Amino acid sequence: MGIVNVPLGNRSYDIKIGTGLLARLGAECARLRLDTRCAIISDTNVAPRYGKAAQTALTRAGFAPTLIIIPAGETAKSLKTIEACYNQLAAQRLERQSFVVALGGGVVGDLAGFVAATYLRGVAFVQVPTTLLAQVDSSVGGKVGLNLKAGKNLVGAFYQPRLVLCDLATLASLPMREYRAGLSEVIKYGIIYDASLFQRLERDLPKLLRREPRTLAAVVARCCEIKAEVVRQDETEGGLRAILNFGHTIGHALEAISHYGRYLHGEAIALGQVAAARLSAQVLGLPAPEMDRIESLFQRAGLPTRVKLNAPQRQKLLAAMRLDKKVSGGEIKFVLARRIGAVEFGHKVPANLLAEVINHQLSTSH
Ligand SMILES: NC(=O)c1ccc[n+]([C@@H]2O[C@H](COP(=O)([O-])OP(=O)(O)OC[C@H]3O[C@@H](n4cnc5c(N)ncnc54)[C@H](O)[C@@H]3O)[C@@H](O)[C@H]2O)c1
Ligand SMILES: [Zn+2]
Repeated sequence: MGIVNVPLGNRSYDIKIGTGLLARLGAECARLRLDTRCAIISDTNVAPRYGKAAQTALTRAGFAPTLIIIPAGETAKSLKTIEACYNQLAAQRLERQSFVVALGGGVVGDLAGFVAATYLRGVAFVQVPTTLLAQVDSSVGGKVGLNLKAGKNLVGAFYQPRLVLCDLATLASLPMREYRAGLSEVIKYGIIYDASLFQRLERDLPKLLRREPRTLAAVVARCCEIKAEVVRQDETEGGLRAILNFGHTIGHALEAISHYGRYLHGEAIALGQVAAARLSAQVLGLPAPEMDRIESLFQRAGLPTRVKLNAPQRQKLLAAMRLDKKVSGGEIKFVLARRIGAVEFGHKVPANLLAEVINHQLSTSH
């Protein structure tokens, strides 16, 4: 089992990574000295597969879990679902010392985390992420929240879990498309922070695509280490944490103009990262061969890197970028790479250059 610590003073916690860890959920929670009453929040895809195992593990360790099942999919990340969860917690008489376990992907993690952050002004929270994206990204770092009609993740909190348990065995049932989408965030860590991780991904991609346990364990652990390090330095996104948004300004805009229908998040940010690499070449002199390696790794991972948008769609994309919640004072700032493994945040990009890159990359299909 790999362990990565997220060092945040008295809110520090461990991320434990390994195959078969779900069976240890009860024992691991017992170490946290929590009350016996707890709730597992999961969704309609994950609960039938892993709900029973989670319940059994907790019961064996002396806990009294109740299972709350929410609908699968992004639309469940709503106030309505959250209210339904609160009501079930109240009906089960969960108290201040009780705790909530999030068993699922990023949707379940964000929603259950927000429920835990707010129910009785905060109860303890354990993450058991079951998608690759959740294991390397959303379960780590304490951002929790929900969507409004006006936009994604507009309401939320910083609320750190007490433990993150990544059972790699749960990834076996993840649809290939979802798995590839998770790889998009994995590749991101190489680009923003670790050139040798990027090299390893170039070398071990076939093994990763087969979900080979040892490679997967090492890569998930490294991604969690990087995220933990960034969050340690900048928990509430005053600065450095912004580097985690590499490729996301364009990616989020693509998701928004396609009404969150056409692309999975990981797919949209694959396109966004390739566009950001192209901008980086122009603005920071990212060498052309590195730009090519970035695009080719996404391609080999089966992720989209080019898309055909017509002129009105490209206009909409630029408009959507200006609406991104990370934009301040109307100015779009980009995370750009000087080379693979070294990025800088807060770069303004001239509008004509941005339009040029978008017109080039997002109007020709290859
Ligand atoms: N908090 C953060 O820092 C952060 C970071 C990145 C993304 N997010 C959020 O994460 C969400 C996306 O997360 P996601 O990609 O995990 O999506 P998701 O939770 O919707 O999961 C994707 C799909 O896979 C299914 N699934 C989950 N685990 C499975 C398994 N083991 N086997 C079979 N099916 C499984 C789910 O039911 C769902 O249909 C978004 O809402 C995004 O805003 C949050
Ligand atoms: Zn992302």
